[in-house]
Amino acid sequence: MAKRKKLYEGKAKILYSGPKKGTIIQYFKDDATAFNAQKHTVIDGKGVLNNRLSEFFMSGLEEVDVKTHFIKRLNVREQLVKFCIAIPIEVVVRNYAAGSLCTRIGLKEGTKLKRPLTELYLKNDELGDPLVTEDHIMAGNWASQFQLDEMTYLAVRINDFLVGMAYSAGLRLVDLKLEFGRYWDGEYEDIILIDEISPDSCRLWDFDTGQKFDKDVFRHNLGSLSEAYMEVARRFGVLPVEAQDYKNNPKLLN
Ligand code: TMP
Ligand code: ASP
Repeated sequence: MAKRKKLYEGKAKILYSGPKKGTIIQYFKDDATAFNAQKHTVIDGKGVLNNRLSEFFMSGLEEVDVKTHFIKRLNVREQLVKFCIAIPIEVVVRNYAAGSLCTRIGLKEGTKLKRPLTELYLKNDELGDPLVTEDHIMAGNWASQFQLDEMTYLAVRINDFLVGMAYSAGLRLVDLKLEFGRYWDGEYEDIILIDEISPDSCRLWDFDTGQKFDKDVFRHNLGSLSEAYMEVARRFGVLPVEAQDYKNNPKLLN
């Protein structure tokens, strides 16, 4: 097998060159970070669960004609994805107030927003991913108007789809963060969803009790993150094996 090359290492994933031109291998690590990596730990099995969950959500999106970078899952921690040029903007869609929205504009956590709110953040760790406007993005030339329009249109569609999926699993999709890339299909350039969709990048609360099942459990020390993520995977029917099996056979997490 040809030796693969590490292309990029982020806080929760590593990207390697793929087996064919135009492909990349996305490896899910167990690292959990928060507050721009000021808080860090390793949570056994997180990468395995996020790999499965992201596969599940991205495959569902493909079925409703939302293009994503996902090609196929390769093993417990890796998936084959399309090579894209990442656009350095994070698109956050919020349905309920939580997190930085509460601190920034004083809404009470859990307030239902009158309509989904789309926000844009510049992906820049040194600056702490600042909130930016469309004008900032145009002025800084981080994306074209067409690309940005496409990203925000897709983000709203993706949010709609995932709100429904979450609801059917007894969960409330409070908000989510999406990233997009430029994909060249040989003839045209498309804007497609990249990165991951997992409880690392969205907020999921139990519909009835409001219990949190996402990375806020780690951010704010609310309990066991692996149990929270396993519950999400269980509710969506994608838990590869039951929790008990992990305990008996830790190798399943490697
Ligand atoms: P926020 O309320 O902290 O701005 O987060 C909004 C959403 O974006 C929430 O679902 C968590 C997600 N998110 C990330 O995926 N990565 C990040 O670096 C941050 C700050 C938030
Ligand atoms: N992913 C970001 C970080 O580590 C922040 C977060 O998700 O809260 O640092």
